[in-house]
Amino acid sequence: MEIINRATRMVSVARDLRADGKIIGLVPTMGALHEGHLALMSQAREMCDTVIASVFVNPTQFAAHEDLAHYPRDLARDAELAFTRNVDYIFAPTPDDVYPNGYKTYINVETISERLEGAARPGHFRGVATVVNKLFNIVHPHFAFFGRKDAQQVILIKRMVKDLVMDVEIVVGPTVREEDGLALSSRNVYLSTDERKAATVLRRALEKCRSLYHGGERDSGRLLNAMRAIIEAEPLARLDYLAITDTTNLEAVTTVPYVSPTLVSMAVFFGKTRLIDNIVLNGEI
Ligand code: PAF
Repeated sequence: MEIINRATRMVSVARDLRADGKIIGLVPTMGALHEGHLALMSQAREMCDTVIASVFVNPTQFAAHEDLAHYPRDLARDAELAFTRNVDYIFAPTPDDVYPNGYKTYINVETISERLEGAARPGHFRGVATVVNKLFNIVHPHFAFFGRKDAQQVILIKRMVKDLVMDVEIVVGPTVREEDGLALSSRNVYLSTDERKAATVLRRALEKCRSLYHGGERDSGRLLNAMRAIIEAEPLARLDYLAITDTTNLEAVTTVPYVSPTLVSMAVFFGKTRLIDNIVLNGEI
């Protein structure tokens, strides 16, 4: 496994791989790797000849008050973990390499980037779309792998790929969970012991929604109320948002439709730590 730090070198390695007829899989990450990322790498390993994992804490997707400075960074550990999944290259550029002096170009996926996570984190998806676009240009992968835990990110990236006719197929991996249902996230390390216990409330609320839905409930208001009650009963949890939307424009739905996929998503604070989770009713994103 080779660690590449310069975009110019990554471009030339990827170009040679393509010229040799290799199928390239890219797993974009911000490091702090956990089993969710590693599962995507294993999936990429099965589908591709060459697996490239990027590790880059992207400054443009953090708002000023967010945790950019404190975001966990340990490239040596990430490289060891990626090595266990037979990743061929780690692309770990510096911020200056991705955003050199005078950088001016950003991608904005309208509407989708303003809702849910986007409403709570203005500018976040502009940063995500821009860096993912840039990674695609550098690596030119055949397949790129993203986790379903960041459902809005997946929906936004798929939209960008379609709108800009980008030559890459997006593969969505399942959300990987702890035994008690908490979705794996690099931010889980910020939780205190009590907050960690309380954090199962996201999964409990979503499962309540799923079981009511399977019991025939289709009214979004009643589904939202049932979930809200579970979250509000947890003293350490502070609900940021809770929504039932379509999976195209993230438009709120008043009645869950019988045929099209519907996203149930939420963000909840535990102290300063903000966790997200979701389920998709009626299909996939
Ligand atoms: O999901 C993430 O870790 C990031 O948003 C991504 C896709 C690597 C872009 O920085």
